[in-house]
Amino acid sequence: MLEGALHGQVALITGAGSGIGAAMARSLADRGAEIVLTGRREDRLREVAESLATASEVVGGDISVPGTPERLVGRTVERFGRLDVVVHAAGLFQKRPIEDTDDDFWHRILEVNLRSVVSLTRVAWEHLRESRGQVLLVSSAAALRGFADNTAYAASKGGMNAVGEVLREEGRAHGIRILTVCPAQTDTELWDGKAPELVRTRMMRPSGVGELLTDLVASDRSIDFGILSIQPPTDPWSEEDQAR
Ligand SMILES: NC(=O)c1ccc[n+]([C@@H]2O[C@H](COP(=O)([O-])OP(=O)(O)OC[C@H]3O[C@@H](n4cnc5c(N)ncnc54)[C@H](OP(=O)(O)O)[C@@H]3O)[C@@H](O)[C@H]2O)c1
Repeated sequence: MLEGALHGQVALITGAGSGIGAAMARSLADRGAEIVLTGRREDRLREVAESLATASEVVGGDISVPGTPERLVGRTVERFGRLDVVVHAAGLFQKRPIEDTDDDFWHRILEVNLRSVVSLTRVAWEHLRESRGQVLLVSSAAALRGFADNTAYAASKGGMNAVGEVLREEGRAHGIRILTVCPAQTDTELWDGKAPELVRTRMMRPSGVGELLTDLVASDRSIDFGILSIQPPTDPWSEEDQAR
């Protein structure tokens, strides 16, 4: 992909302080896009912003708090005058067996991973119509297959895929492209305390995932990718089983 292919475009990235969101901030900036970074930990966002090749803006906040989407989009347009790409990378990954999936737990996961995605997209939509922009939904392999103790997270990501398919239809008339990507295991802090080091070494690298997703954003607009699934060549966990 050509360096500078996204020059003149502005991307708003949730979850930009770590993992896949931070990797995307770097690779989108490397292609020339200006970046608005958001998440709750402003120190982490500033660290990433300082490493970027282009102009950027840090806007801290909890994406699930009412008013945050308006503040994010408002600041983006105020600073850069346009909005071309919304990357939904913020996510809460917590596992609980069904017996412990109480309503509070369910609501928190669905609030962050699904309702907030809809709210931010709704607020951004008019600007995406103007720019004939793109929405990138960072979903999960958990939307496509069952993993134990994962009811709430799987529902949130399955819901994200469904929302993406609806938006694909609504966006078509306005030239808005929806990119839905379902990554499997990627070695980010999301796995801290949840996977042993050996297993993590077998996961996808966030930098590689960020590069790939940036390629999708920068790709020819005559291509629709549908729901894309990406994974490491071998299951990081099953190799752990075999090694025992
Ligand atoms: N890593 C994997 O194996 C994997 C696989 C499939 C899908 N995914 C998805 O990929 C996305 C990125 O995850 P990651 O792997 O890069 O993990 P990560 O480093 O933990 O990133 C998640 C990000 O979401 C932000 N976030 C969480 N709750 C938030 C809230 N209420 N408001 C605003 N920001 C919030 C966090 O920042 P703050 O804590 O600073 O707010 C963090 O930067 C997630 O949606 C995840 O579900 C990851």
